[in-house]
Amino acid sequence: MTTQVLTGAEVRAAVPMREAIDAVREAFASLAAGEFEQPPRTVLRDGGFLVMPVHHRPTSSVIVKTVSVNFDRVPAITGTVAWAESGRVEQVVADAASITALRTGAIVGAATDLLAADGADSLTLIGAGGQAADQFRAVHTVRPLRRLVVVDLDRERAERLLETLRPDLDGVEAATSDDTAASVAEADIVSCATSARTPLFSLDALPERVHVNAIGAFRPTMRELPDELLADATVVVDELDAVLEESGEILHALGSASVSKEDLIELGQAISDPPRPKARTVFKTVGIAVQDWAIARLLAARTLSNGQ
Ligand SMILES: NC(=O)c1ccc[n+]([C@@H]2O[C@H](COP(=O)([O-])OP(=O)(O)OC[C@H]3O[C@@H](n4cnc5c(N)ncnc54)[C@H](O)[C@@H]3O)[C@@H](O)[C@H]2O)c1
Repeated sequence: MTTQVLTGAEVRAAVPMREAIDAVREAFASLAAGEFEQPPRTVLRDGGFLVMPVHHRPTSSVIVKTVSVNFDRVPAITGTVAWAESGRVEQVVADAASITALRTGAIVGAATDLLAADGADSLTLIGAGGQAADQFRAVHTVRPLRRLVVVDLDRERAERLLETLRPDLDGVEAATSDDTAASVAEADIVSCATSARTPLFSLDALPERVHVNAIGAFRPTMRELPDELLADATVVVDELDAVLEESGEILHALGSASVSKEDLIELGQAISDPPRPKARTVFKTVGIAVQDWAIARLLAARTLSNGQ
């Protein structure tokens, strides 16, 4: 019996962003087709620990992701993703921080590809923490960017992110800003990746036509987006049950009657049957195990002896 143990660097080397986006897109079509068995994740210590299992029936494979989340620590998310298949004695245990950043970028890439305007080429990224680099890489993969503006409460973090991204920028004009409202006003795409508890901007700060991604809030007490935006936009979510349990902005907007459940479109459904989007679109994800499964499946195929 062999256990392949993969570090963050090995995960990165095995799965380029473009392939991660394709794998996550395919997994969400499979989710919409009812091929996954996925209980709600177990949340311990009010979001301090998350345990996330999922089973894919057609491949008879399973993952369990276990992470610790602590915003006072760098990186904020650490843990493992364990992969097993019923017909195989080998398994994979891989670094969850890199898989999380990759799969959260990948789902945003798939959603942005579906919802952003064809020529969208300027991104404002709010939040320059552990998720931020892959948020940029994913959007740049599906909409080659001309301009990037990074906003963070901590200006040095925003500057450090631009340093980290230097090899990926290849001609993209990149800057940091402390002015969130002015930065979103000029963006075709806004990506939010913060631990904020109140909305990052108001609806009237946004252009008439814009696509907004929001990955940060994963507890009912957290919010990045205002109700007015959710009322105004076509809203796509990763999974209805998950956002109704965990997304502060969706719960707040339902509570103020700004949106109804019927307004929310699941990503899997939107992939199979693309909606006619309004001028403003929103993609909200709290993150589900299906995304981690999609990356773990690629890792298993690449690292186990008779990979499928
Ligand atoms: N949806 C998902 O699947 C998913 C996956 C991973 C992480 N997350 C969540 O995304 C968020 C970001 O994750 P991370 O690992 O990058 O966290 P992090 O702590 O490394 O970074 C968060 C950054 O947001 C900045 N920030 C907080 N409030 C802000 C505000 N009002 N304006 C501007 N900047 C602000 C902080 O200064 C920090 O640099 C967290 O809430 C995390 O739990 C979601």
